[in-house]
Amino acid sequence: MSECKHHQVIIIGAGAAGLMCALTAGYRGRDVLLLDNAKQLGRKILISGGGRCNFTNLQTQPSAYLCANPHFVKSALARFTQWDFIAMVERHGIAYHEKTLGQLFCDESAKEIVEMLTTECDWAGVKIQLRTEVLTVSKTETGFELHTSEGHFSCESLVIATGGLSMPKLGATPFGFKLAQQFGLRVLPTTAGLVPFTLQPEDKSHFECLAGVSLPVTVTSASGQSFSEALLFTHRGISGPAILQISSYWKPGEAVSIDLLPGLNFVDWYKTISIESPKLSIKNALSRLLPKRFVERLQEIGAIPDKALNQFSKAEVEALADYFANWSIAPGGTEGYRTAEVTLGGVCTDELSSKTLEAKACKGLYFIGEVVDVTGWLGGYNFQWAWSSGHAAGEAV
Ligand code: FDA
Repeated sequence: MSECKHHQVIIIGAGAAGLMCALTAGYRGRDVLLLDNAKQLGRKILISGGGRCNFTNLQTQPSAYLCANPHFVKSALARFTQWDFIAMVERHGIAYHEKTLGQLFCDESAKEIVEMLTTECDWAGVKIQLRTEVLTVSKTETGFELHTSEGHFSCESLVIATGGLSMPKLGATPFGFKLAQQFGLRVLPTTAGLVPFTLQPEDKSHFECLAGVSLPVTVTSASGQSFSEALLFTHRGISGPAILQISSYWKPGEAVSIDLLPGLNFVDWYKTISIESPKLSIKNALSRLLPKRFVERLQEIGAIPDKALNQFSKAEVEALADYFANWSIAPGGTEGYRTAEVTLGGVCTDELSSKTLEAKACKGLYFIGEVVDVTGWLGGYNFQWAWSSGHAAGEAV
């Protein structure tokens, strides 16, 4: 049998959570080895935020996370906050800006975040080994033994930071879920989150010609969760931040309700404009509020009558107001893990300590980041969970 290299702490997965955990444990003087099967560190960080990494959100709070136990995230988020991460970014002289809704992005490149974390790992004495796939893990009397593509390793504390299933082309694997099950931990069913919707055949034929058209909306799920952001028509269905957000709350078979004119009192608007320009067509009037191509399409499919403003009855105006406030779409499905930003579900938080992320039933085994049943909203919340949970485990291992 080949030599077995020992470390106090081994972290599997050099993504956002694994890097933060490694540097935190390293600064505590722990002997840390960080393993990843990839050729490159932090690949998801590099492609995130269109290459500028939306690294946190100023408004980070527990209510921005989906988790079977909504209280679970509180402890880790409180002990390593968005302000702590921003302070690290500032210490490294990385320029950043708020794009919208508290979302912080690098001015230059996501590479700066990876460089910052790598530098910190270096300062903290962390050993990083890439191109090393962990194949199996077994429990020993004093810790864990790992069989990898590059030989055997052993450790006292083992941290699983292997992420979720989204973007398989970036090397996502179900490794972390399988390992949790191997150690008897419950794993909640996983699905794609922050993902575009596909449309049912009739809606698809109605709207695929609008690919590229976007508009601000308020979208509401069947469970009552709402987001006010942009909707984007695509060749396959609908996307844009509002849709990605609501997709995490959507269940197959449900419809989502979309307010196409958020903040507008349609009946009052109609009264004013029909007095000003009674002979104006409804199409031209609505084109002042909505993208013209969208209005034309709604008229072509018979959703809006083809007549002048002075030809509408009060009841017809009210019906139009209701149509625009509650445009209902029942998605055919989602684009799945291929394009999803995150994975919903994962290692059940009942199995973990919210303070340390250690498995209650297996001393020395920790789960952090996306592999855990914690999913943030779009807008930097998922990285913040990776930083906070990574830090919590890094303080404990
Ligand atoms: P992550 O997936 O980052 O890392 C897991 C690591 O484990 C990988 O490096 C993988 O190679 C390794 N691994 C897996 N199995 C292994 C094995 N058996 N052996 C060895 N290594 C193994 N979030 C956000 O807050 N702001 C944003 O701007 C974006 N943007 C964004 C864009 C796109 C396209 C995607 C897909 C996702 C985002 N996200 C995001 C989400 C964010 O990227 C995600 O939540 C975090 O990267 C999760 O970090 P983790 O460290 O948990 O897993």
